[in-house]
Order: sequence, then structure tokens, then C-alpha cells
Amino acid sequence: MSVLLKGGRVITAADDYVGDVFVEDERITLIGESLELTADRTIDARGKYLLPGCIDPHTHLDMPFGGTVTVDDFESGQTSAAFGGTTCHVDFVIQTPGESFGAALETWHGKREGKAVIDNGFHMAVTDLAEGGSLAELARLPEQGVTSYKLFMAYKGALMVDDETLFRTMEVAAETQALVMVHAENGDAIDVLVRRALAEGKTAPRYHALTRPPELEGEATNRAIQLARIAGASLYVVHVSCRESVDPIAKAREAGWNAWGETCTQYFVIDETYLERPDFEGAKYVYTPPPRAQANQEHLWNAVRTDTLSVIATDHCAFLWDGQKTLGRDDFSKIPNGGPGLENRLHLVHELGVRGGRITLNRMVELLATNPAKLFGLYPRKGTITVGSDADIVVFDPERRHLITAATHHSRSDYNLYEGMEVTGTPELVLLRGQVLVEDGRLVARPGVGRYVERARFGETLTPASGP
Ligand code: URP
Ligand code: ZN
Ligand code: ZN
Repeated sequence: MSVLLKGGRVITAADDYVGDVFVEDERITLIGESLELTADRTIDARGKYLLPGCIDPHTHLDMPFGGTVTVDDFESGQTSAAFGGTTCHVDFVIQTPGESFGAALETWHGKREGKAVIDNGFHMAVTDLAEGGSLAELARLPEQGVTSYKLFMAYKGALMVDDETLFRTMEVAAETQALVMVHAENGDAIDVLVRRALAEGKTAPRYHALTRPPELEGEATNRAIQLARIAGASLYVVHVSCRESVDPIAKAREAGWNAWGETCTQYFVIDETYLERPDFEGAKYVYTPPPRAQANQEHLWNAVRTDTLSVIATDHCAFLWDGQKTLGRDDFSKIPNGGPGLENRLHLVHELGVRGGRITLNRMVELLATNPAKLFGLYPRKGTITVGSDADIVVFDPERRHLITAATHHSRSDYNLYEGMEVTGTPELVLLRGQVLVEDGRLVARPGVGRYVERARFGETLTPASGP
């Protein structure tokens, strides 16, 4: 199967030019100014951007959490991603305490089997090194392409680990060249604040934010940075939401330490006042870290512009409002934490970032595709448009308007965080390894086309695949 994309504006992290892109058997084989080639399919891309398929390194599909299970499985979550121009993601395997890492990984492979619409890799979320997985088993995970370990410094009594587990995992990562990812919040202090709020009868959704103040995100971020320095590990702080967490990352990066940070789309759009919406609607915005004071938003834009933060992800962790979020109607701590977002990241970063004059198109591609590929061992197979790369390509119409609404989105969630926002610019056609995935508002490819990607170790490159 060959595809010729003619006359599109090719945008990578570094380049911006009009050209033709030729795809054969899943990969880009030729890029030129005016290619005279016969192809099985020719696509007129004049007036459109050709972007590398976006990569989301932070998603939770089919995950048991908060007394329930996220509503998007691999089929619905990845379909939602595909419509938003995301062709690859890295999802979190969660080790149940007492379980081996191998068993946990097998469970997550089973979840994607026969359902995958886009490509994906896995991170390993370590919850227990005493009774379940051993340090030796953890060290072997990169051999299976799992080259990042995730630790939760919050969610006491559920996913949270103590500093010993965090530090020991960092030491293994330093040996195996894996990247350590942290959810940075001080879970012990939050637990005290949550219990006190509930004892005082403070049960509404807004107390979710009031019991998780930004200082506790800043403290944990700084602690993780210092521990990683001592262990000699490379660190990636997920879902940075506020100035208190940005500042220690900025300081670490200025000092040349191996620390990176990610923020997520919702932190640019939603602020703490959303939690006060009446009739329990505020529960839709209960995710962690919580929506912050609006002043943080320009601070985050500045951080992504200056590479203090290097990735914008989604932390897609979708629930139904009716039936799942409502589990916490009388107690905010029982509202499952998380929200949908996979489908609208490119829409919103293009709208608010590029059209809003805050970042360039090149930087948008870098934040949504190239940096996630480089940090998570997928580059240059993915994350750019170049000869030899997988032909994961988004034909993006920068003029077409799109209304974001749960009425038409592809997540199974019954609400959209960005309900009613209208953006200019939307994917028109999406290719996954040269196959048309989305066209004319329809999913063309069948579940099962997505592949598991064994990722390279941190700092190493993933060479182009030679075949399926
Ligand atoms: O609220 C969130 N973010 N849910 C998903 C789990 C996590 O902390 O990333
Ligand atoms: Zn988290
Ligand atoms: Zn998450």
C-alpha cells in the first residue's frame, strides 16, 4: 500500500515547508518538493498542515481506580485519541500490591488485545516492592520495552508509595536506564487535611482542591528531584499544575540535573472555580492535582514556551458523571479522580497556544509529539516526519471550525471537560503507519490495527521497524 500526500505544509519540531510525502508499507520513504509518483492513494493536502501523529505519554484506560473502573477501555479511549490526532500513547500498568510486575503487565496486554486502534507502549506503576514485584524483576522490565517506572507520592491507602520504595526504584532506574515518573504531591499531609475537612462536614467537590494545596505539590516535586539526584536517576514529573511545582523543575533544569516536567491540557483551561459549579457539576472537574487558581495558567504557558516543561499530555482518566462521579455526592474524597481529554489536546493547544500567540507551530509539535517520543524511547520511529519514520501523519485543517461537546466526542464519558468551546483547526484525516485511521469524521480502521511498541531505554533511539 502506498500513499502520496501532495502539497501539504509539513511541520516538525524543527521544520516548516510545503512538500510531498510518499509512504510505502507503513513508513515514509521519500519527501520532496514535487514528487511525480504513482501511489495507491493520492491525498491533496494543499492548505493543510501535515503533522506527526501526536503521542500522549499519560493515559489511564480500563483502569480500576477510586472504587470503580475508568469508563474508556482501549477501544473507546484509543478511538477518541485517533479523532484528536493522537496515534500513539503510553498507558500505565498498575501493579496490584502483592502482584508480580510480569502478572500486571500481562493483564494490561490482555486489555488492549483485539481492541487497539492506535499504537501504544506501557509504563509500570510500582506500588509494592516488599510482597509483590522484586527489584530484580523491576530491572528486567526494560527488556520487554517497559522503560519507565511510575510512582505515586499521593493517594494514601491506595497507590501511594513511601520514600523508601521511591528511592529504591530510582536506584534500579539509574542502573537500567529507565525513566522515573512521579505523581508529586505529599500524600501524608493531604490525608490529614482530607480527614479534617470531612470531620468538619466539608463534603462538597471544592474541598478536593482546598485539601490539596499547591505547596504540597511543590514540596513533593522538590523531594523527588533531590532523591533522583542522589540515586542518579532521570526524573519526569507528571501533570505539573502550579507555580510551586514549576519552580523547582526550573531550578533543577537550570542546574543541568536530569529532570523534566509535563503539564496537561486541563490546567490551561479549567481553574478552581469550576469545582463550585452547582448541582454537583463541580465533580466533573475533580482530578488530581486539582484545578488551580487562574494565575497559574500563564505561568504554565511560560514554562512550556521556555522548556521548563517539555510535554503537554492529557492524563485521560475518564469517568461517567452520572453513576461514577456521583459516588462522592456526600463525600468529595469518594469522587473518582480524573477526567476525559484524549480527543481535544491538539485542538486546544493549537487554539490557545498557537492561535493565541503563546507558542509556535514547531513548539506545538515538539510538546505533543517529538518530546514525548524522545523522552519515552519512541524517537525517531515516531514523533516526527522524516524518511524512515512510521507514517503516522495528521492532515490538519487549520481553518475548519470544531465544536467540542460530549454529544459528538468518542469517549464513553457522559461529559466533556471543555463542553461548548469552539476551536478553529481540527484533524481532517489521520494515518497510522500509512493506513487511513480517521477520514470524513469516521473511524476507518478496525480495532486490532494498533500495535504494542517496545520502547527504547531512556536516551536511546528506537530504530524504524523493518516490518509488522
Ligand atoms: O485525577 C487523576 N489525575 N487521575 C488519574 C490518576 C493520576 O493521578 O494520574
Ligand atoms: Zn497522578
Ligand atoms: Zn495520571
